[in-house]
Amino acid sequence: MAEALILTGFMGSGKTAVGKLLAEKLDRDFFDADPLVEERMGMPIPEIFEIHGEPEFRKAEETVVTGLLGEAAKSSRGAVISLGGGAVTIAAIYEKLVREPLVVLLDEDVDRAWQHARGGSRPLAADPEHFRSLYAERESIYRSVAKYIVDTRDLDAGGVADRIVELIHERTGTL
Ligand code: S3P
Repeated sequence: MAEALILTGFMGSGKTAVGKLLAEKLDRDFFDADPLVEERMGMPIPEIFEIHGEPEFRKAEETVVTGLLGEAAKSSRGAVISLGGGAVTIAAIYEKLVREPLVVLLDEDVDRAWQHARGGSRPLAADPEHFRSLYAERESIYRSVAKYIVDTRDLDAGGVADRIVELIHERTGTL
């Protein structure tokens, strides 16, 4: 059974695009946490935040991600999981990520992350100052769960996916 490959990182770091490519490349199942949270709550993320508030979003995210990690562990093809940027801030998820061997941080610069995330539908990417302070708050949390860190600055999604495979292969001889 293959260990799940789990992508973490801030909003706008490319987790979904890279996760999809990786899953194709490695012939693994792909799970994207955010759409599954939307499905569970029956509405898009901005509405979840607006109607129910962030704490309810985090509760649903905790349930979805915990379920995904359990499901992925049983998958015979192996899984690639793209987490939402705030999943690491949920204690129960953090505890699990610390023990997962293939957690990869997509390490994006805050200015580039803002350029990617601004003007979209992310409730926590509405104000540049708040975005920056969240980034600063979370930086060390991402690093403390990551077993691999990929600097995404000069790479497109395909380049990041290739780099992840290369890094894990170098260290473990697998993938
Ligand atoms: C969030 C990141 C988003 C989404 C939600 C909250 C965060 O996911 O889960 O808007 O707290 O960083 P992406 O990282 O995929 O944008």
